[in-house]
Amino acid sequence: MKQMTKSGRREIKSDERRAQWRAWNRGEIGLCGTRWFTKKFLVFFIFAWCAIVAIVLAITIPRVPGISFYSASPLITATGRFNSSIPTEFSRSPANFSFPAFAEIQVDTTSNIIPLTLNHINAQVWYPSSNFQIGTGYFGKATLPAHSFPVIQIPLNFSYIAPNDTDPTWVAWYNACKNPATYTNGVRPGVSFEILLTMDIQGLPSTTTASAQVDAAACPIELSITSA
Ligand SMILES: *[C@@H]1O[C@H](CO)[C@@H](O)[C@H](O)[C@H]1NC(C)=O
Ligand SMILES: *[C@@H]1O[C@H](CO)[C@@H](O)[C@H](O)[C@H]1NC(C)=O
Ligand SMILES: *[C@@H]1O[C@H](CO)[C@@H](O)[C@H](O)[C@H]1NC(C)=O
Ligand SMILES: *[C@@H]1O[C@H](CO)[C@@H](O)[C@H](O)[C@H]1NC(C)=O
Repeated sequence: MKQMTKSGRREIKSDERRAQWRAWNRGEIGLCGTRWFTKKFLVFFIFAWCAIVAIVLAITIPRVPGISFYSASPLITATGRFNSSIPTEFSRSPANFSFPAFAEIQVDTTSNIIPLTLNHINAQVWYPSSNFQIGTGYFGKATLPAHSFPVIQIPLNFSYIAPNDTDPTWVAWYNACKNPATYTNGVRPGVSFEILLTMDIQGLPSTTTASAQVDAAACPIELSITSA
């Protein structure tokens, strides 16, 4: 009689479920009464899945690359549209200067497993002796190969305004960029600068900064012998 009533049927069903659950817990049957997904298999399945996720993350999460100057004279002459977009001039009164250049930066991607995509880089150029900013730069989206030392050229807009022509920053850059013929030995002195990069790396939540400094870089431009 009990089997006929609704509540009786429910009771039998829940008794069956409890029995199945106990059997599954003992590892005797698979999930839902099938042969599949026994307790042992489920534990193994979850473990394997976690291991696969960990491996995929280890491969795909980008590593912050190291940066350094490509050579002791990392400023090279700007060309093309970028060159013509920025005036090349040294003015004594008012004391200022501006010129375009490319900075050659070597990026160390040896710890990356898959190619590294840079969404953009913002650059600042500083003159360390006086701690004044003398330029800015922007490098757009690029994908760099993993496990190597690719070299990128960051366009720099040098621009500085001094109070007068005795300002040490103006003098140092003027002496470095003068025509070599104005020196008796024909050799211009080098000049120090620091580059500060703020990199937006695809796959990392925040930007990362890196910097590099050079002590005696050659000026990438050459003023005419008659200039200022
Ligand atoms: C860069 O532009 C200046 C004019 O602003 C020009 O005199 C110079 O020849 C150009 N240099 C190169 C390498 O294109
Ligand atoms: C420097 O001074 C000259 C002359 O006044 C001016 O034409 C030029 O725009 C100035 N450059 C900068 C970078 O301020
Ligand atoms: C170069 O930098 C100066 C000073 O920050 C700015 O006024 C000028 O617009 C910049 N030029 C370009 C082409 O970005
Ligand atoms: C140049 O400017 C500096 C600081 O602004 C000042 O001390 C110096 O007297 C000035 N020199 C000349 C020759 O005007």
